[in-house]
Amino acid sequence: MAPLSGLQLASALLAFAAPTLAKGVAPGQIKNFVTFGDSYTDISYPAADGGYAWPTYAAGYGPFDLYPFAKSGAACSNNLTYRPYPPIFGYQLPNYFDEVKNGTAKLNPEETVYTIWIGTNDLGANALITGSDAPDVSIVPVRQCAVDVVKVLYASGARNFIMQNIIPLDLTILYSANSYPNKYWDEVRNTTEWNVFMKELSRSGNAITDLMLQALAPTLPGAHIATFDSYGLITDIYNNPGNYLNGTAPLNVTGCVNSCVYNLNESESDTGDCTVAEGTDRDSFLWYDELHPSEQTDRIIAREITTVMKGEASKWATWWS
Ligand SMILES: *[C@@H]1O[C@H](CO)[C@@H](O)[C@H](O)[C@H]1NC(C)=O
Ligand SMILES: *[C@@H]1O[C@H](CO)[C@@H](O)[C@H](O)[C@H]1NC(C)=O
Ligand SMILES: *[C@@H]1O[C@H](CO)[C@@H](O)[C@H](O)[C@H]1NC(C)=O
Ligand SMILES: *[C@@H]1O[C@H](CO)[C@@H](O)[C@H](O)[C@H]1NC(C)=O
Ligand SMILES: *[C@@H]1O[C@H](CO)[C@@H](O)[C@H](O)[C@H]1NC(C)=O
Ligand SMILES: *[C@@H]1O[C@H](CO)[C@@H](O)[C@H](O)[C@H]1NC(C)=O
Repeated sequence: MAPLSGLQLASALLAFAAPTLAKGVAPGQIKNFVTFGDSYTDISYPAADGGYAWPTYAAGYGPFDLYPFAKSGAACSNNLTYRPYPPIFGYQLPNYFDEVKNGTAKLNPEETVYTIWIGTNDLGANALITGSDAPDVSIVPVRQCAVDVVKVLYASGARNFIMQNIIPLDLTILYSANSYPNKYWDEVRNTTEWNVFMKELSRSGNAITDLMLQALAPTLPGAHIATFDSYGLITDIYNNPGNYLNGTAPLNVTGCVNSCVYNLNESESDTGDCTVAEGTDRDSFLWYDELHPSEQTDRIIAREITTVMKGEASKWATWWS
């Protein structure tokens, strides 16, 4: 074999080194995305935002082919935070692997991003914030579980991942200090304590997840792993609504499109006393109801995630590898 010239050697080394050195996916690389998560990501129509959910928008904006596995009500694992809904471990992942096995989901790992957005239910009422779990469960294993989703998918051949972090749940109506009894919780509670505790859970949960992902990334050769900063984006919408919300009502980040006030201890099959924004007024709201982002917020999330999946720079994403 002829000896390589300096230039050939340099480019051979570059070609070898580039895939491991380059952080993030390349422009144009991604054609599909696969979603795992809860009601924030479940694309059933109408979605929990009252319209289309963010993945439906992102699939159109890309365009990308969408493989949706997220289910309303889900936690990461019912072994940690038990809820009677289809969790990622125990339901969504097995469902995905079944579809891979039977050829329904035929995905080239290079062209596919896996998104994971979980935590709202794990941290929330009837789970961490109300101490409803096994004694050894805390925010730590709950976030380890989210990171384990990446590990399990990587082991099956997946390579590109976006971890959407936890939103500032303390800014939702459910977890605000001046909250009212609503369909998610109408029993007696100390709303100040819930607000303080939820702020701690969301912020520490996100910091723990980032540290775990940073530690994990170098152990998974060829993987590209990002954190998408949902926390930062929604905080920015809260602080600067005029940059994002475009409805015909006064901009509103403390109320919601579909606000229903319950009496204390009222049956949850009642509807409560509702104030509902209609038509183009809806796009003035950050929140759809006491726990969920509005459809306009979801369009923004979709727009920003699309940028990340297209391999373009985004102030809301950090690639760890
Ligand atoms: C959850 O518990 C079941 C039953 O004990 C077990 O089979 C399963 O592997 C556990 N799943 C996880 C993700 O720990
Ligand atoms: C493949 O598996 C999925 C998930 O279990 C199922 O819903 C679907 O009907 C299966 N498709 C075929 C062609 O067997
Ligand atoms: C609610 O919790 C806050 C913070 O711990 C405390 O200051 C306040 O006294 C509590 N309110 C009631 C009614 O117990
Ligand atoms: C607000 O902007 C989105 C695009 O982000 C657009 O789809 C929607 O129709 C706009 N809403 C109104 C009321 O103009
Ligand atoms: C925001 O929306 C709520 C309904 O959830 C309403 O009660 C409140 O008056 C609105 N605030 C503004 C500033 O329009
Ligand atoms: C609501 O239920 C709790 C116990 O579950 C009880 O202590 C409280 O008095 C009830 N309040 C109202 C207004 O019914």
